[in-house]
Parts: sequence; structure tokens; C-alpha cells
Amino acid sequence: MDKQPDEVADMFDDVAKHYDRTNAVLSVGNAYLWRLATVRAVAPQPGERILDLAAGTGTSSVALSHGGARVVAVDFSAGMIAEGRRKHKNIEFIEADIEKLPFGDDEFDAVSISFGLRNVNDPKRALAEMYRVLKPGGRVVICEFSKPPRALLRIGYGAYLKYVLPAVAGAASSNPAAYSYLAESIQEWPDQGQLSQWIRGAGFIRVAYRNLTSGVVALHRARKPVDAAVLASVAKRRQNATGTIATHPSAPNSKP
Ligand SMILES: C[S@@+](CC[C@H](N)C(=O)[O-])C[C@H]1O[C@@H](n2cnc3c(N)ncnc32)[C@H](O)[C@@H]1O
Repeated sequence: MDKQPDEVADMFDDVAKHYDRTNAVLSVGNAYLWRLATVRAVAPQPGERILDLAAGTGTSSVALSHGGARVVAVDFSAGMIAEGRRKHKNIEFIEADIEKLPFGDDEFDAVSISFGLRNVNDPKRALAEMYRVLKPGGRVVICEFSKPPRALLRIGYGAYLKYVLPAVAGAASSNPAAYSYLAESIQEWPDQGQLSQWIRGAGFIRVAYRNLTSGVVALHRARKPVDAAVLASVAKRRQNATGTIATHPSAPNSKP
């Protein structure tokens, strides 16, 4: 499936105004529970600096900030950010592409991304950027649609995506085509095991996930290693794969 960044950003610009409402309707209220589980997994501490990627209108960012953490919300849709800034005055929004984050190495205590990684053109590159900007020992939490492990549920959910979602989106959203994209992108997205492998491949350790709503959504979590030798070996592996020269042991993709 083609996910041209300009087209994805335009699509979210179009749905920004009613995004939160449509989200609540289509998830039958589950979006709130998934957000709660994500915040618990991130476990923000007062004073920590937390990066919320694909933050959209900032609903997840504000939930992460409640305990006193400083949250930076990143998204590349100007429309979603404008809506976010209007709603949440205390959140810092930055318009940027997850694949090229405008931050230095080792800046954040935790990085979270909710329903964003699936929309990124090159998710492995996005994972590499998350790794780069995290401090050693930092936490990553990824909340994303996934595959229900039980066959019957998987079939029922497939039918929901194919028939019910487009019909409801037609009534509740200003851009029903965006929700056809949603259904297609969910069906093409890797399952829990494969996403775990991608996360490991980016250099993260202690990779684990738990299913929410019987696997309709999965919450993956992992850590950036602390051990200097491990950091250096990840950097070397990346360097060999990309042909770039790492200048910092925890910055596998940085150029000289
Ligand atoms: C489904 S929304 C999720 C919003 C929010 N995290 C939530 O849970 O409600 C996905 C967001 O990802 C953003 N996005 C997709 N690809 C991106 C990229 N490469 N860089 C920055 N933002 C991106 C879109 O603009 C959109 O706002």
C-alpha cells in the first residue's frame, strides 16, 4: 500500500476538525481505554521529557502530561496540529516527520506513538529514529491496531473493517475515503510477532506486547539498552546496513 507522506498529511488535515469525535464513534468508546493503557505503559514520571509521536490533535499527549511530565507532541499534519494547539494550550506541538526527527541523540526519557506507526511510509526508519532520540535505558511504547489471535474474532473484525467501518465513517466523518484507507492499512499491518521483530531489529531490548480488546489493538513496549557495548554493537550493525558512519555509540544513523 502506497503511503506517500504528502498524501497522508493532507488526508489527516482533512479529517482534523472532527477527528476526535469520529475516533470515539468508530472505536465504540474503546479509544479512551487504549489511551489509558498506553499512558500506564509509558508510566510518565514528573519532570521526565516525553516524546509523543504522530500526536495528531494531542489527546494522547495531554493524557501523558497529567502526572507532571513535559510532553513534546510531533505530527506532520498542519491541520491536526492546529486543532491540537487550539485544544491543549499547555502542550508543545512540533510539525515534523517521524522519519527525520528534529532532535539530538539521547534526548527523551520515553517515546510513545499511538495509531501512528502504521501510517508512516518507512516504519523501520521511524523505529530507528525513536531509538536514536531516546536516552539509554529509555522506554518506547507503541499502541497500534493488530491482529486478533482467535480465528473467529479475526473473521468478524475483518468484516467490520470491510463493511461496517466505511458505512459508519460515511455518516460520522468529513472524509469517508480516509476511513477506507484506515481499513486497508489495518489489514496490511504486521501482526504482533512481526512488529516485535521490527522493534528488536531497531536495537531495542526487553520487547514485549499485550493485546487490548482481544488483539484488535496491541501495546508493544521495549527499552533502549544501557550497556555501552550493546549500544556500540547496534550502532555497528546499523552502520553496516546503511553505509552511514555512527559518530555516537547510541546514534546508529547519524552521519559525520
Ligand atoms: C490516526 S492519527 C493518531 C493521532 C493520535 N496519536 C491518537 O491516538 O489519536 C495518526 C497521525 O499520524 C500522523 N503521521 C503519520 N505519518 C507521520 C509522519 N511520518 N510524521 C509525522 N506524523 C505522521 C498523521 O498526521 C496523524 O495525525
